[in-house]
Amino acid sequence: MIYSSVTCLLLCAFAVTADSLEPLSDDFINLINSKQNTWKAGRNFPLDTPYKHIKKLMGALKDDRFTTLVTMQHEVDLIASLPENFDPRDKWPNCPTLNEVRDQGSCGSCWAFGAVEAMTDRVCTYSNGTKHFHFSAEDLLSCCPICGLGCNGGMPTLAWEYWKHFGLVSGGSYNSSQGCRPYEIPPCEHHVPGNRLPCSGDTKTPKCVKDCEAGYKVTYKQDKHYGKHVYSVRGGEDHIKAELYKNGPVEGAFTVYADLLSYKSGVYQHVAGDALGGHAIKIMGWGVENGKKYWLIANSWNSDWGDNGFFKILRGEDHCGIESSIVAGEPLFD
Ligand SMILES: *[C@@H]1O[C@H](CO)[C@@H](O)[C@H](O)[C@H]1NC(C)=O
Ligand SMILES: *[C@@H]1O[C@H](CO)[C@@H](O)[C@H](O)[C@H]1NC(C)=O
Repeated sequence: MIYSSVTCLLLCAFAVTADSLEPLSDDFINLINSKQNTWKAGRNFPLDTPYKHIKKLMGALKDDRFTTLVTMQHEVDLIASLPENFDPRDKWPNCPTLNEVRDQGSCGSCWAFGAVEAMTDRVCTYSNGTKHFHFSAEDLLSCCPICGLGCNGGMPTLAWEYWKHFGLVSGGSYNSSQGCRPYEIPPCEHHVPGNRLPCSGDTKTPKCVKDCEAGYKVTYKQDKHYGKHVYSVRGGEDHIKAELYKNGPVEGAFTVYADLLSYKSGVYQHVAGDALGGHAIKIMGWGVENGKKYWLIANSWNSDWGDNGFFKILRGEDHCGIESSIVAGEPLFD
């Protein structure tokens, strides 16, 4: 591996192969579009985006606790009755957070975002649209010492375990003044065109503050909401579909390759570029588009990335590992 990269530096610096093209270049985007026709690539990130920032976006650490979770199994009758396409926004129209796309900023906090996004939706889906609680990414990112390394990555399993044992408070996006602990890290200009600050990749993990923002009427302790059960969903596509259909969105993780950065629409499948790291996201639904089966996913790279912040990825063959680390849970209602 080392030998071949050195060789490449010396001998093929000008070769036009997928791996030597700069991942954000127009040439690379054109290459992706020439290699397949199930999805469209385009410019999401400015050409001069620091590589450090891109690496930061992939903050899912190897989740070595995943196998300790109990496994949710679904009934064969439910599985047999599942529709060909499922978008949870049709089933739970009174759950507005199903439309939400958050922004992790220049911090490797995807593991926290995928978790709180799914937890937030689940308060609503489990109550059939009658209860709402917007879980704080900030609280999880900054206050969970067992989860991993904060802005340098964390483990989805431990994020959910933390929710069950220690609870999480509410909190909206940066500068939203919503909830107990809104996100402290500003969105940066990782997409074009725009007017936000440039992305540096240098963001430090925010300090854990066990107090609600001024003006919020409930104490930090009173604002804590907990999980009742936490589990994994294994056994493949059918069980994941049944879980989404019955209970709501889940957190998943997969390997991001350089071509995903330029995703705009369609059903993503990896065709070019290097692996950049593990990334956690919220899986919401599924469907079939032009004969390709896909999972519908909410990313946390702002709504100006991809397909309004969402993307679709090939379903049914554990593509990039997308079906092999599904974590979810049931909220505790008091
Ligand atoms: C869930 O809520 C919807 C919309 O209010 C309602 O039509 C439906 O009957 C409810 N379903 C159940 C199982 O209570
Ligand atoms: C966030 O809010 C503060 C205080 O109102 C303001 O000074 C700052 O410009 C806002 N930042 C962004 C990125 O909107």
